[in-house]
Order: sequence, then C-alpha cells, then structure tokens
Amino acid sequence: MKYWINKVVNRYCKDFGYKSLCEIGASLGGATDKLLEAHGIELTVIDPCLDADLCAKYSTDKRITICRGLSLAMIPKLSGTFDCILIDGDHNWYTVFNELTEIEGRGLLRNGGTIFFHDVGWPYGRRDLYYQPDTIPDAFRHAYARNGIVYGRSELSSNGGQNSEVCNAKMEGGEKNGVLTAIEDFLERARDEYVLFCFNDECGLGVLVRKNGIKSRMTLAKWRFLCAIWNIFGGFKNAIKHRFTNVYDAIRRGVTKAEPNPENTILIP
Ligand SMILES: C[S@@+](CC[C@H](N)C(=O)[O-])C[C@H]1O[C@@H](n2cnc3c(N)ncnc32)[C@H](O)[C@@H]1O
Repeated sequence: MKYWINKVVNRYCKDFGYKSLCEIGASLGGATDKLLEAHGIELTVIDPCLDADLCAKYSTDKRITICRGLSLAMIPKLSGTFDCILIDGDHNWYTVFNELTEIEGRGLLRNGGTIFFHDVGWPYGRRDLYYQPDTIPDAFRHAYARNGIVYGRSELSSNGGQNSEVCNAKMEGGEKNGVLTAIEDFLERARDEYVLFCFNDECGLGVLVRKNGIKSRMTLAKWRFLCAIWNIFGGFKNAIKHRFTNVYDAIRRGVTKAEPNPENTILIP
C-alpha cells in the first residue's frame, strides 16, 4: 500500500476533504508514516503488530489510535464513522469479505466515503494468503503451502516464484479465493451503493466508493479517468515486469527448454 499513498491516496483524500481515516494492516508503519504527512488527519490503525510494536512507535503522536489485534476482532469495537478506510491486512477471501460486511453492518464508512484495498491484482486478487492460517475457519481456508507464486500458473512452485515465505493457497482462482473475489462477492449484495475501480499496477489498488453522499461527482469522474489512463501504462509495465521476472526466475532455477515439467515452463504473459 505504501507505494500508493503519495501517488493516489493522499491526493484523493485531499480532493474529497477526508480527515478521519482507518488503516487495517500496517506492518512496520510505512504507509502510516506517509498518511500522516497529510494535513489535519486522524488515523485509527488496526494491526496485530506481528512485524513491529506500533503502540510504542506512535505513543507520542496524538493523531493516531492503535488497535492491536486482528481486524475481525477489532472492527466490532470501533465506534464513529470514517471518511476513508485502507485495507491491507490478511489477504484472503474470508478476512476481506467479513471486514467489508462488518464495516457495512456497523456503518463505519460514512456516506460518500471510500475504501482502498491493496492487492486486488496479481498475485493475491484471485489467490488467498494466510498470515495466520489458524485464525481462518477450516471451511474457508484453501489448501496452502509456503511455496512461491509464478505469474500465469495456478499451482505453486516448490522451486522459485514469489512470496514463498508466506502461506499461499495452492491453487489460484475459483470460489472464495483472493482479495478481489471477496470484494466482488460483497458487491453482489450491495452493488447499487458502491462504485469500484482498480489501478492495475503494483499488485493492484482497488477503490470502492460509497456513491450516496459523494461530495463531488466531477472529482470522482476525474479519478476514474486518471485510473483509466494509469492502467494503459501500468498494464504495459506489468506485462514487461512479469515476463522478465518469469524468465529471470527460470534462469535462476537452471531451467532448460528440454525439460517438459510445468515447474520449468517459462511463461510469457
Ligand atoms: C502487507 S502488510 C501491510 C503493509 C502496510 N500497509 C504498508 O504498506 O506498509 C500486512 C500486515 O497486515 C497485518 N495483518 C495480518 N493479518 C491481519 C488481520 N487479520 N487484521 C489486521 N492486520 C493484519 C500484518 O501485521 C501484516 O504486517
């Protein structure tokens, strides 16, 4: 999410006059620090503090409230409404779908507010990641492994690929799998109330806007236009990046064309 804060989030929030923000999933606070560069905001952060003690880091900053814990345990304890919510916590269907359901059920996003999501594109748009698999009910947890993800391949790779240090669903796609799938499933019930558009770059940034009460339809149209333009260049950049990443990965693993094993296929997106 950090990548998107100065490029999109802070500018967007300024355009709409957003002041009260909630960030779900902060890790070391990289995006948090950038959010705090904006003038006059108040920020609530929900994070289990697996990577850093955020309570200690922000103990002297009165603009921040840290809620230490998992989103689905902490969201029900929140009160008031937020102009903007950023979701970049546990990147799996169960968590994101239920975060959205709770946010809506408790009326935490004010009319005209926006939810930003990181990782609506590859690799987690259509594939679950589990930071703590035990916290996901069995019925909603796909088979997973600490193996790498290769662009264009559903199966994980036991030899290379990306993000092999975390628990990734073994297969990509299908029902109830991935961040974007969770948002789409949520919208099945609430489609008329929201607009969704996505920046297809750097793992994808989803922008979900509550139409009712939006301050300026012109400003929203401007951002949708900027997103469309961004995607022309972002799509091109991603195609090149995935191609070179796959080729580099295959070379690193010592792949030759003679090996028919799908593990060794060089995928050209
Ligand atoms: C991708 S990192 C966040 C990066 C951060 N947004 C940034 O841009 O610097 C995801 C973080 O979410 C946190 N996390 C994992 N499961 C969570 C959950 N269920 N609720 C809230 N946060 C969670 C973990 O602490 C993890 O470091």
